[in-house]
Amino acid sequence: MNVNENAVMRISLIAAVADNGVIGKDNDLVWSLPDDMSFFKASTRGRHVIMGRKNYESIPHKYRPLPGRTNIILSRNAEYDASSAKRSPSLESALDTARNAGETDCFIIGGGQIYKIALELDVVDTMYITHVHGTPEGDAFFPEFDSSLWEMQVIDDHPADERHEFSFTICAYHRIK
Ligand SMILES: NC(=O)c1ccc[n+]([C@@H]2O[C@H](COP(=O)([O-])OP(=O)(O)OC[C@H]3O[C@@H](n4cnc5c(N)ncnc54)[C@H](OP(=O)(O)O)[C@@H]3O)[C@@H](O)[C@H]2O)c1
Repeated sequence: MNVNENAVMRISLIAAVADNGVIGKDNDLVWSLPDDMSFFKASTRGRHVIMGRKNYESIPHKYRPLPGRTNIILSRNAEYDASSAKRSPSLESALDTARNAGETDCFIIGGGQIYKIALELDVVDTMYITHVHGTPEGDAFFPEFDSSLWEMQVIDDHPADERHEFSFTICAYHRIK
């Protein structure tokens, strides 16, 4: 059972995942895909975004906290200084923070550890996954998931071009309750 089934806040996860499951390397992304970044920005604008401490630290100082969004950083370290972002000790408490603020559409934005916790807790209503058609080397991965629990919808197919090293397909996976 999806534990979020009675909540009014929609919980989405958003990720870009290579064909081999890689999402990052050396605490950085392994591609530059500006049009996918635009999709990320448009999807999350004005929303609560929940991310792991490593993901947060991978964002260049001048871009963090991510502007125009309420940033919540997950860290078990109570002393962690997330500057103007909020720190939360668990995903459940981060979701409560967003819910209590009246959020209706909250986004879990990675990285690998946080995606895994979100799927294990079974709190995600929709996964927006950009399938990046390549097999780069990496050390951070998207968790395996049971595709029979999700209904997949293709949002956009994007070719490789001079600005995009890889072609990619943006999909929405809706949890079948
Ligand atoms: N392709 C994509 O869409 C995408 C998106 C986001 C990130 N990334 C990439 O993913 C990589 C980072 O992912 P990652 O898996 O290494 O790290 P992460 O998930 O970003 O962050 C891990 C940290 O989150 C905290 N944490 C983990 N579980 C927790 C829990 N249950 N409760 C509270 N805090 C918890 C811990 O922080 P403390 O150690 O402080 O306790 C842990 O060290 C980078 O390479 C980044 O570029 C890719």
